[in-house]
Amino acid sequence: MTADFGDASHISRSGTGPGPPARPGAVLRGNAERPQPVAATVTSRLFQPLTVGAVELPHRVVMAPLTRMRATQPGDVPNELMAEYYAQRAGAGLLITEGTQISPQGKGYADTPGIYSDEQVAGWRVVTDAVHAAGGRIAPQLWHTGRVSHDSLHEGGALPVSASAIPFRNRTSLKDADGNVYRADCPTPHALTVEEIAGVVEDYRRATRNAREAGFDLAEIHGAHGYLLHQFLSADSNQRTDEYGGSLENRARLMLEVLDAVIDAWDAEHVGIRISPIGSFNGLEDPEGAEAGLYLAEQFARRGIAFLHLSEPDWAGGPELTDEYRKELRAAFPGVIIGAGAYDVAKAERLLDAGFIDAAAFGRAYIANPDLPERLRTGAALNEPDQATFYGGGAKGYTDYPALED
Ligand SMILES: Cc1cc2nc3c(=O)[nH]c(=O)nc-3n(C[C@H](O)[C@H](O)[C@H](O)COP(=O)(O)O)c2cc1C
Repeated sequence: MTADFGDASHISRSGTGPGPPARPGAVLRGNAERPQPVAATVTSRLFQPLTVGAVELPHRVVMAPLTRMRATQPGDVPNELMAEYYAQRAGAGLLITEGTQISPQGKGYADTPGIYSDEQVAGWRVVTDAVHAAGGRIAPQLWHTGRVSHDSLHEGGALPVSASAIPFRNRTSLKDADGNVYRADCPTPHALTVEEIAGVVEDYRRATRNAREAGFDLAEIHGAHGYLLHQFLSADSNQRTDEYGGSLENRARLMLEVLDAVIDAWDAEHVGIRISPIGSFNGLEDPEGAEAGLYLAEQFARRGIAFLHLSEPDWAGGPELTDEYRKELRAAFPGVIIGAGAYDVAKAERLLDAGFIDAAAFGRAYIANPDLPERLRTGAALNEPDQATFYGGGAKGYTDYPALED
């Protein structure tokens, strides 16, 4: 299988296709040739407890959402192997699951799990029970990929949906009959009608009820990385002339309607949202992303949600966020901010000390290090992630990374 970078891989590399990020995150260092991570000090803020809405975290190392394409078919059902994978990582302050489609229409890649059917809810219950038995806390990432999808994933070959029917030059990851992952061009999507948009909001509401029923501790909305909610937000992908297009307020309307529906189905202290205000993800340019991020942060603050999850673009070749922007974001959102993207202990400590973030999420390092917090706390070396097994497959490159005591 070729290494590819599904979700966040498509941070713009000028259409060069799949491949590793241009600049690997410093946290991946850990072998003899490279500098070892700096051990967190005893006074480290990273290892102080944190209240995130209704949930108490024992420390501030979070597992970032990571698509791994290993759900059981047919039906995109979470399984025992996934339960083992998440339970191995239950030492995280908080686990955020891989992107999880809220409806069949919201699916954009092969073998990603859903959270709309009874079977899926039962599968997630096995996962949350395993995580809780291991002492952890877990939130699903509620996902609608919009135009980052393929007609072959949808019943009757239906087109993927988006804000506008604009030709879209991007690819997604599918599987062939032998289970091998390959990349396919995304078609021009169908523009959702206002009635269909209302249906999408209802799908998020149902997914949230399902998340509660499945025993999750919190829920995260995926508002980042060029997927449906971001496609509505950006004027690049949204050329609508109705109440969902035009002004920033209109373009943000769907994201906020979804947020309100999710809050309604649970409550604000159980809900967080991930955004990526700066950077180009999944073929989506968002020239006004910085401004939109601040507007959204204010809207999130008004609703008193549990957390804002900030996906930063520098891990894959995007710019580093400036302290100035972080300051503005903090002023707009006084609640819990989780930062993600090329974090190591030093970056996390600096931003925690400055008050710009309250917790740090780790992605690739968490793929390879089930006991990542312990390694960061003690300065132990990190296992290197194997990109060839990121997407699809079985236990190899999934549940077989050794913990320190192994
Ligand atoms: C294999 C892989 C899958 C990912 N899947 C998701 C996903 O489902 N949802 C999401 O919001 N981000 C996803 N991301 C982005 C990560 O959550 C994270 O932001 C990114 O890896 C940067 O953090 P890192 O430098 O610690 O790896 C994915 C990244 C990788 C490498």
